[in-house]
Amino acid sequence: MTIPYPAIQPTPAIAAVSPPSGAPRPRVTFLGTGYLGATYAICYAELGYEVLGFDVDADKIAMLNAGQVPIHEPGLDELLKRNLAAGRLRFSTDIAETAEFGDVHFICVGTPQRAGGMGADLSYVEASVTSLAQHLTRKSLIVGKSTVPVGTAEWVEQLVGKHTPGDLGVEVAWSPEFLQEGFAVDDVLRPNRIVVGVKSEWANGMLYAAHKGVFDLAATEDREVPLVVTDFATAELVKVAANAFLATKISFINAMAEVCEASGGDVTQLARAIGYDPRIGNRFLQAGLGFGGACLPKDIRAFQARAQELGAGEALRFLHEVDLINLRRRTRVLQLAADLLGRRSGPAGPDFSGTRIAVLGATFKPNTDDVRDAPALAVAALLQKAGADVHVYDPQGTENARRAVPELTYESGINEAVTGADLVCVLTEWADFRNADPVALGELVAGRKVVDGRNCLDSALWTQAGWEYRGMGRP
Ligand code: UDX
Repeated sequence: MTIPYPAIQPTPAIAAVSPPSGAPRPRVTFLGTGYLGATYAICYAELGYEVLGFDVDADKIAMLNAGQVPIHEPGLDELLKRNLAAGRLRFSTDIAETAEFGDVHFICVGTPQRAGGMGADLSYVEASVTSLAQHLTRKSLIVGKSTVPVGTAEWVEQLVGKHTPGDLGVEVAWSPEFLQEGFAVDDVLRPNRIVVGVKSEWANGMLYAAHKGVFDLAATEDREVPLVVTDFATAELVKVAANAFLATKISFINAMAEVCEASGGDVTQLARAIGYDPRIGNRFLQAGLGFGGACLPKDIRAFQARAQELGAGEALRFLHEVDLINLRRRTRVLQLAADLLGRRSGPAGPDFSGTRIAVLGATFKPNTDDVRDAPALAVAALLQKAGADVHVYDPQGTENARRAVPELTYESGINEAVTGADLVCVLTEWADFRNADPVALGELVAGRKVVDGRNCLDSALWTQAGWEYRGMGRP
């Protein structure tokens, strides 16, 4: 059922319910203050809700209470300070306090890839739900936001039943999030849809109240936020299906890049030309080094693992190809580097010993400090492993990159990274790199050779400045 806004008052399908705390609007908590939970907690306070963020990590909670955002996310700093000052927002490591405070508890903990396989590790979901349930003293709604294998909401409901003291009537719902790092604030305040999986009218009404701030903001800006009310399984699947589709779209264009490389075509022009067809659309058709980050890679793997368990593995076999196409792009950068540096490839790949390579970019995309499963950092590590002396610069990701791959040399600026380099690889499309002056950089390097791993540079400009240029899927 799709209920378009404006529904000034809850439509007959959504009965108004009163928050069990007696507050005029539901008090909301977010369990887990990583990218997801911290952003949601801060933005919900901005929407006017009374908010408590919970985490077991005392350092992170202390930082947040002191007005410091532990991640780089544009706009979040200011909102955190403003809402702490307004008294609507606080953070705690006390689960009893969290249980007592909330009418609606959002579970925002991580679901990383399992160490020994492709499936999702649900231990953080289990730990947070169990400890919350044990401390509840009145009716409330527990809402899953983490990306999970289909069937998790039913299991969470059983956990809650098992661990809640007495018969409090605590209910469960699922409401996936679709945050993109770098745009996360807007994605919470101005989502392009809200999806809720519910089993009761009470849960539906409570979730409606917990999202009313979003609908009200939309109304003041003359927008509509579509609301999709559905069952648990569909709500869980919406998230993984969306990410599987996005990953497939990226790997589709990267597969076309491979064909362009073999045939002399230019994938950037091909993408533009097919993207004019509104049925295809031009977004997520940027060929290059492929997708990374904390979501797309692990979500398509967990989705395949879950489908296999359900006996529907065949249906998602193509996602294995999507993954392989994506990983092959990393090898392609090594091939282009070997080609530019005149290095032959042996059975173990090219040997770059004696070369100095500048890698511009470490994060999985621009405007974030996140290096989880970052193709740029993975390629930097591969180049170093193949013998190159790799110097990395990233505008925001250096600290995280250093922690993840300490054996690389990290520089404090573009100039420092490229000085004396035999080859420059641009692997994340930060604006600083796109706008860099190839003439000035040309004065610093040992060799004017550049691999544009994101097809983000003006190839004509770089070529005019005397650079040997190689893009991805371009002649
Ligand atoms: C993604 C989904 O977009 C979001 O809805 C979900 O909630 C979480 O996962 P995010 O991980 O922040 O968000 O990154 P996204 O902007 O989707 O980019 C993912 C990766 O794909 C990046 O590494 C990016 O560089 C790459 N990408 C994206 C391409 O290679 N080509 C494109 O055309 C688009």
